[in-house]
Amino acid sequence: MASEKIIAALDIGTSWTRTVIGSINRDDELVIESVAERPSEGVKNGSIVNMEQTVKVISQVMNECEVQAGSEASSVILSIGGDHIQGIESNGVVGINNKDLEIRNEDIRRSIDVAKNRLLPQNKEIIHTLVQDFQVDSRTGIRDPIDMLGHRLDTHVLLAVGSSPVIQNQKKCVQKSGLQVQKLVLSSLADAEVVLSQEEKDQGAILINIGSGSTDWICYQNGAPISVGGIPIGGEAVTSDISYLMQLPKVVAESVKITDGSAFSPNIDKAEMILTPSVGGRPPIRLPRIELSKVIEARMAEIFSMIQQRFEEQGISRGFGAGVFLVGGGSLLSGATELAAEIFHLPARMGFPEAIGGLDRVFIDPRYSTLIGLLKVEARKNSRDNPSFSQKKDKKRFGGKLKGFLGKLF
Ligand SMILES: Nc1ncnc2c1ncn2[C@@H]1O[C@H](COP(=O)(O)OP(=O)(O)OP(=O)(O)O)[C@@H](O)[C@H]1O
Ligand SMILES: [Mg+2]
Repeated sequence: MASEKIIAALDIGTSWTRTVIGSINRDDELVIESVAERPSEGVKNGSIVNMEQTVKVISQVMNECEVQAGSEASSVILSIGGDHIQGIESNGVVGINNKDLEIRNEDIRRSIDVAKNRLLPQNKEIIHTLVQDFQVDSRTGIRDPIDMLGHRLDTHVLLAVGSSPVIQNQKKCVQKSGLQVQKLVLSSLADAEVVLSQEEKDQGAILINIGSGSTDWICYQNGAPISVGGIPIGGEAVTSDISYLMQLPKVVAESVKITDGSAFSPNIDKAEMILTPSVGGRPPIRLPRIELSKVIEARMAEIFSMIQQRFEEQGISRGFGAGVFLVGGGSLLSGATELAAEIFHLPARMGFPEAIGGLDRVFIDPRYSTLIGLLKVEARKNSRDNPSFSQKKDKKRFGGKLKGFLGKLF
């Protein structure tokens, strides 16, 4: 393989465990070498409940990925998501003691340390410190304070925190499968990395990942993250509802959800009938499609409304000019975007991971945004550490110098 550096990522989802191996070529570009996935075992609502089973699946899927890539990975970028994720706003104020009163990287570092130094809810730890903006003396909303003159720097951050036991269990499983955890990355941050453009983050965007056992979100305003979190409901709950309310085996419920399901009943013709697949000798059943749609719609509406309610509690309302983006397997459900648009009163669409060199087109799919995003986060950090590259490509949100510095912190 004509590469200089190998990076690998692992996304342990409730229904799928996915790995990707990529390389950074001589032109500092990320190239995907291989992707592998297997059904997860021992994972519930995004958290590990049986370590032995999870370790087995990680080993198998990583092995498959390594064979395809023709290279071995000793460490991985690991995703973390689920309902234990919480965003906490904080800020850190420091005095500028430099003789010329010019703000330097060191001052930002001190203010971020102050912002991080706060009491967290019990058993929670910081996963990322996401800088929102800066205030220099009375001037607010500053994106890049480097070289500005001032007496007082106030850095506003969003602390993305998660449950320590959940995080430690996940790391332990990875280590038991013979891999080092190179870095932990919030799954929704990985999604945003490959789904949202800088312009969409500037306009304001809500990115929702509807997985199997959890639905996670990240919201951006003025280019910065303002909310992260998750709820313990996803596509699996939709399937369970179909199974329970329509008295169908789980496997049949999953199948009809995918082939005939819709989350938006106004789209469905009331007279339309569907035929369930026959499983285990059970004959197929004829059902009105509208009945199926009503069951799905109720659960999907609950998911979106719960998130909407969290936003209300956090005082988040307007300012999402780019609208809502849906990713994760649950976003493939027909009518999901229409329902999201109705509940959030915003335009909504599916989000697709951007095309990256070597990435097979089948993976440009909302189910793979987290996995591909993990690799991209790391590749971008590599670029930032290479100053000539960061000057060329990374000037949009923060100036080159500041971005390079924040990249190191991140
Ligand atoms: N075409 C489809 N239509 C509707 N739902 C689908 C479709 N394809 C997959 N799903 C649903 O998506 C879910 C799986 O999504 P995904 O692979 O993103 O989950 P995961 O990453 O394993 O779980 P989590 O992120 O919650 O831990 C399942 O509930 C599945 O039923
Ligand atoms: Mg997932």
